[in-house]
Amino acid sequence: MKSSPRGTSVSFVPAPKESDHSISQSLLPVAVLAWGAEWLRDLPWRNTRDPWAVLVAEVMLQQTQIDRVLPRWPTFLERFPDAATCAAGSAGEVVQEWSGLGFNRRAVMLHRCATVLVNEHHGVVPDELPALLALPGVGPYTARAVLAFAFEQDAAVVDTNVGRVLARFAGCSLKPRQAQDMADASVPVGAGWAWNQAVLDLGSMVCRARAPRCKQCPIAEACVWQGNREKNGPDPAPGSAGVAGKQSRFEGSDRQGRGRLVAALGLGPVNGDHLAPVMGWPDDPQRAQRVAATVVADGLAQETNNGFVLP
Ligand code: ADE
Repeated sequence: MKSSPRGTSVSFVPAPKESDHSISQSLLPVAVLAWGAEWLRDLPWRNTRDPWAVLVAEVMLQQTQIDRVLPRWPTFLERFPDAATCAAGSAGEVVQEWSGLGFNRRAVMLHRCATVLVNEHHGVVPDELPALLALPGVGPYTARAVLAFAFEQDAAVVDTNVGRVLARFAGCSLKPRQAQDMADASVPVGAGWAWNQAVLDLGSMVCRARAPRCKQCPIAEACVWQGNREKNGPDPAPGSAGVAGKQSRFEGSDRQGRGRLVAALGLGPVNGDHLAPVMGWPDDPQRAQRVAATVVADGLAQETNNGFVLP
């Protein structure tokens, strides 16, 4: 037995043997919950259970850092406080409100999602996994995040951070399905909200990709990698734990040109003659045309007689 920082009695299960790559074990729920009760970050989207607000936060947080989401989440919700308001706007208006957050396709998907919510769910975010997964732009992480954080269900979210905690604890790299199974097996009954928030923060604050703080970890004693690490054992989650792809370089990328075009469209139509310089490739109009076509295909722009506009 060991005392947690708050004095709660926490019992640890013995760490699996190095050779035992069993992944059916669960993280130690009591220890994780006790850690979360003390250390959970006070983030604004944690103070609401409004499913639309939670959905918007999760879509934003998936590919954008918390610091950049913090000022934008409330302003987006002021403009689009519910699915009906969002669906009533144009995709271009949603893209404009999204500007600066990057990965603008998420804005188009959120607009499509709002439209489906209005057309098929009376404007209400559903509280069941299959219905959530059927929504445009909603994947396994976001669907479960809505269940756990808005409806307080015992669903288990697995993103890069959670995947890393799980893989290190199990002492082996995990396929997405294995990570999800292990996470599912770990959620303490009735504590889905608190447990998922705690594991997310444990992954980003303690079990960090680089320079993990194992000394501060509430489950270090049972963590297989912590045991191996002291003997220079390899990190089972060296990259993204196989749960999400690493972001490629932005500078000079097609994504940068796409972002420039969408930002320019937010100010007004872009004439075809200006396309290449607007996208940052004044000497490569062919590349500009090719990449602009992908922006149109993604629903982020419309082609007109003489150029491009927001949809
Ligand atoms: N709280 C709820 N969801 C979160 C997320 N995706 N990242 C960080 N904190 C969160």
